[in-house]
Amino acid sequence: MSKLSHAQWSSRLTFILAATGSAVGLGNIWKFPYMVGDSGGAAFVLVYLLCIALIGLPILIAEWLIGRRGQKNPINTMAELAEQSGHNRAWVLVGVSGVLGAFLILSFYSVIGGWSLSYTLSSVTGAFSGQDAEGVNALFNSLLASPGILLLWHSAFMLLVIGIVARGVTKGLEGAVRTLMPALGVLLLVLVGYGIASGYFGETLAFMFNPDLGALSGGVVLAAMGQAFFTLSLGMGIMMAYGSYLGEDVNLLATARTVIILDTLVALVSGLAIFPIVFANGLDAGEGPGLIFVTLPLAFGNMTGGTILGLMFFLLLTFAALTSAISLLEPVVEFVEERTPLSRGGATLVAGIATWALGIAALLSFNVWSEVSIVGLSIFDFLDTLTSKFLLPLTGLAAIVFVAWCLDRQSVRQELALGSTGEMLWNATARYIAPIGVIIVFIGSL
Ligand code: PHE
Repeated sequence: MSKLSHAQWSSRLTFILAATGSAVGLGNIWKFPYMVGDSGGAAFVLVYLLCIALIGLPILIAEWLIGRRGQKNPINTMAELAEQSGHNRAWVLVGVSGVLGAFLILSFYSVIGGWSLSYTLSSVTGAFSGQDAEGVNALFNSLLASPGILLLWHSAFMLLVIGIVARGVTKGLEGAVRTLMPALGVLLLVLVGYGIASGYFGETLAFMFNPDLGALSGGVVLAAMGQAFFTLSLGMGIMMAYGSYLGEDVNLLATARTVIILDTLVALVSGLAIFPIVFANGLDAGEGPGLIFVTLPLAFGNMTGGTILGLMFFLLLTFAALTSAISLLEPVVEFVEERTPLSRGGATLVAGIATWALGIAALLSFNVWSEVSIVGLSIFDFLDTLTSKFLLPLTGLAAIVFVAWCLDRQSVRQELALGSTGEMLWNATARYIAPIGVIIVFIGSL
């Protein structure tokens, strides 16, 4: 992917599938609902949606634009574009911090991917059948309490990721994304239907969409912004790398809109599927990272056809997690490949093992190392906080500032193919609203 001009996506659809494969993942189905639950519901959702539209959309476009311009990996692209436009080479830091972010995220992402694999097996063995709230909680807690089992599943998930990336078949997955993602969507809708039948859908709608602005704090706003970056795979050079394969004729705005709408729909529908179960069973919406693992088994364990639906759901969730994880490992592999004499296979192994090793620290923080804290956070929470709340927004901020302020305006205008109103909106958003928004959120949270 690193060398001069290279292959392109065969079509806009393939590109959308690849970008959606990266964007839609655990962030939407696992993380979004528990963050909503943690942060008091609708107020968080409102800020999240604002961040997606006003910050996420322009930054997504900016990252693609940079990638398409540079036609190289993020680090070399930033180096070259900075030089061409007469700016400081320090801009390569954008690429470097992206690689670092991807590495850190994948380490804990894989642990959750492992939970999903483990729950796939549990659904087959009928572990959820007839369980009550207490039963599913016990099931989840016993998983968390077993470092060996967590390690097994984390390793299995990482092996899958390494296997796929090493064989370079990443692009072969787009076909699968095309059928499996809609299937996952359908299952989520089935769960929403189940939630409606439970009689707690009204509560759920109010919880998610009737904001109590008093619940907003600097911390909640920062969390919502971080989630917007995380869910769109921004601030990691990933979208930049994807953009480097993008043909000149592809309309960036229209494509970004499609990807963002899909991603946001999956997140919102996941929330609509989960909270009725929470309310119907008197569970704690603020349960944290375990939320989907203590709610969905309740639904699957007590509905007709639940075993097969549960199996399909966790399989598809694992698949969605894999397509995101692959996009996370890719930049790390490229980084290693370029800076060492290692072959692609060797580089994948080194990058994969390093990530896997860090992941072990993350999984131990649920049990043996639960007392270990870094700036008051468990290792898992620290990795998550450092990346989502700091690295990604800062890197994304740099990317948009670069496009809006450093690249030649005339050529950016051409590339975006906007009319005069569109251009005005773009300038207002890219030069002021998005960057200032990120900065205000930072300052407000301090
Ligand atoms: N966007 C993915 C998700 O929501 C996670 C991810 C983050 C993937 C960053 C790639 C890069 O699950």
